[in-house]
Amino acid sequence: MRNLMVRSYVDLQRWLSSGVDAIEAWQDNFGLFDRHSSLQISDEAFAAVFETFRRRLEDNYPFFHPAYAGQMLKPPHPAAVVGYLTAMLINPNNHALDGGPATARMEKEVVAQLAQMFGFTAHLGHLTTSGTIANLEALYVARELHPDRGIGYSAEAHYTHGRMCRVLGVPGTPVEVDSAGRIDLDALDGLLARGQIGTVVATAGTTGLGAVDPVHDVLAIARGHGVRVHVDAAYGGFFTLLAGLPERAGLDPAPWRAIARCDSVVVDPHKHGLQPYGCGAVLFGDPDVGRLYLHESPYTYFTSDEMHLGEISLECSRAGAAAAAAWLTFQLLPLTADGLGRVLAAGRRAALGLADLVEASGRLDLYQRPELDIVSYFPVTSPRSLTAIDLASARMLTEGMADQRMPVFLSTLDVQADGFARRHPDVRADRDHARILRSVLMKPEAEGYVSELHTRIEQLASGLASGPRS
Ligand SMILES: Cc1ncc(COP(=O)(O)O)c(C=O)c1O
Repeated sequence: MRNLMVRSYVDLQRWLSSGVDAIEAWQDNFGLFDRHSSLQISDEAFAAVFETFRRRLEDNYPFFHPAYAGQMLKPPHPAAVVGYLTAMLINPNNHALDGGPATARMEKEVVAQLAQMFGFTAHLGHLTTSGTIANLEALYVARELHPDRGIGYSAEAHYTHGRMCRVLGVPGTPVEVDSAGRIDLDALDGLLARGQIGTVVATAGTTGLGAVDPVHDVLAIARGHGVRVHVDAAYGGFFTLLAGLPERAGLDPAPWRAIARCDSVVVDPHKHGLQPYGCGAVLFGDPDVGRLYLHESPYTYFTSDEMHLGEISLECSRAGAAAAAAWLTFQLLPLTADGLGRVLAAGRRAALGLADLVEASGRLDLYQRPELDIVSYFPVTSPRSLTAIDLASARMLTEGMADQRMPVFLSTLDVQADGFARRHPDVRADRDHARILRSVLMKPEAEGYVSELHTRIEQLASGLASGPRS
């Protein structure tokens, strides 16, 4: 199979041109008019600029290729591309049914599918432009419901929580983590017992390590103190499709099933939902929180009495094309274990496979076992110290990318010395933090590439950056 995903998974050119045809046919319904010369561009002018544009885009990392085993980046599924570009020719704005009735309805359907995936029996929710904005909305509702209390989140939660607490003027309290990077339950209980926290954030898949906070335990503790629970599943949310599966990729269902009983959840279709950037989502279990968004808008809502998406979100203009892309994708790859779940399962098996190879290696050490599809590891160095590991990890990152013949793209993760010592007490802590290596294996193609990837990483660790390939 050609390695070009866009060519191999659907006939992109065929469906893109069908999209253009469909919109042109729809436009024909509205009668002829003269196009304005001010927008006209000749083919020659386009060709010249496009050539520059094409070359400039080459200055990029190959996110589509399994040798890109770095950060949380991959291209959208071609179905999402077709959905996005086709709808974008209309350019609907999903803030209101008046801005784009078709895509606003698609958004409601997509949000209902996400709610069903998490097992919500009732919901209010919408898409957002990102996980950051989706979390901001959840924290905004947290503040409105408990204006006199703060928000707690694990020390390894995404930095957005601390930052958005500052934006909202709410005290934010980081809670220490256990030796696997999950929120420490005793510390959480102690914090909540003081009565100053109104909402706690559980992270289902931390950004650094993919650690899953025990949402079920967090929920039990929080409810005991009358505290709300928000789940940041921006990265990990779609892994709920693997909860309880009787196969290697299967996950302990307890944290995932508990999400249905939490107050809100954020999930990013632009991470594991095969979507292009510009697609996060926030869902609330109590539709009544919609009242907290009430605002006057004399210039937006006029064609229907139905609740408009802009009436239940902090953002105004939002790409209807994002909803169209997600709708089309989830029709073809539904949010089930047999649909999108197969994509996540392959990445998770790849992560487990790479972790096994790293564990068996004399040149690499596993930082911790992957809980989802993120593998964290570091080179074996002499001396076995944080300084040596930090330098060797940075060297491997740079040399991997610089290899002319067979580049490999990793990422680094800066970890604290105390977290390192809890996992690897034999490593000398001669500094207070160090970079290790991190590979997010979020493409299903990673599964067939594990052995090659491992070989390349071993070569980098041994200093044979451009040495012979086995
Ligand atoms: C757990 C978590 N929350 C929030 C975010 C922020 O999401 P976004 O980058 O879409 O704004 C991320 C991004 O990686 C994340 O991993």
